[in-house]
Amino acid sequence: MATGKPRVAVCRALPGRTLEILSEACEVELASPDDGAPPPERWAEAVRRAEGVLLCVGERLDGVLVAQSSALRAVASMSAGVDHVDLRALGARGIPLATIGPVLSEATADLAFALVLMAARRLGEGERAVRAGTWRGWAPGYLTGLEVHGATLGILGMGRIGRALARRGRGFGMRVLYHNRRPLPPEQAEGAEYRSLEDLLAESDHLVSLLPSTPETRHLLDRAALMRMRTDAVLVNAGRGDTLDLDALVDLLRQGRFTGVGLDVYPREPLPPDHPVLGFERVVALPHLGSNTRATRAAMAETAARALLALLRGEALPPGAVAEATA
Ligand code: DGY
Repeated sequence: MATGKPRVAVCRALPGRTLEILSEACEVELASPDDGAPPPERWAEAVRRAEGVLLCVGERLDGVLVAQSSALRAVASMSAGVDHVDLRALGARGIPLATIGPVLSEATADLAFALVLMAARRLGEGERAVRAGTWRGWAPGYLTGLEVHGATLGILGMGRIGRALARRGRGFGMRVLYHNRRPLPPEQAEGAEYRSLEDLLAESDHLVSLLPSTPETRHLLDRAALMRMRTDAVLVNAGRGDTLDLDALVDLLRQGRFTGVGLDVYPREPLPPDHPVLGFERVVALPHLGSNTRATRAAMAETAARALLALLRGEALPPGAVAEATA
């Protein structure tokens, strides 16, 4: 029975009060009954019937699906990244897209800094040794790592997460450098100094990449870039997987470069368990956990739901939501 409420497609059972918020004002079609990704055809069916769409980074909204969804007029993503959405296709139809970047910055910066600590101090290796029973007791040279406190932290991609990471670095007494497309006004740089990409790579003891996935950033960290880094540096990728050439990284790890590498994102997710990068003890590999605290994930989903309602009603976006340029 028609209710007069707009129909919205929601990818999965999302945390917090998300479904209640939407159900009060919309007819909600849930494409997956639980936390798991819906089968692509089930997702497409729901989107084709919808006026509004709420999705996560695990679902795609490509040009073909946008073209097939004639009623579609608003999209919100429970993410900072937009690489799973065809911005041009939305722009061509004048369909607005909201994301929720500000909501996840602090949790993601915590995770990126945790990866620096894990990779620099070889914590993954140590934890595995205790469990495996291969730990032979305290020894002065056993699993020695790199200093974090007082070292140089390089941040590649100085958006909100980068600035939150710079604050953590300063808290550890680090010298903080960054590279961005453009230098930030000093009052926004959190005490970090701007460097060219080449200088950032060469000067950083710990380099954290927070790059989004765009045609310009694909494989920005290629073999030549990685070769510019100190041979004993720590490298962390907590941005998007395709910005780092994983084959080149594997090759350089084989040559003995890097004290440690921390990865939270991959060109293909989930990362196949037989991927050669997992063959190195000094690689810490996490399953895309950047924003993953209970409070942040609930806030992300609820903010995205409120943003979708605002777009459908033609109202201003709620705090924490961001209007993406779709043209
Ligand atoms: C994002 O929001 O883009 C994150 O990668 C999801 O945790």
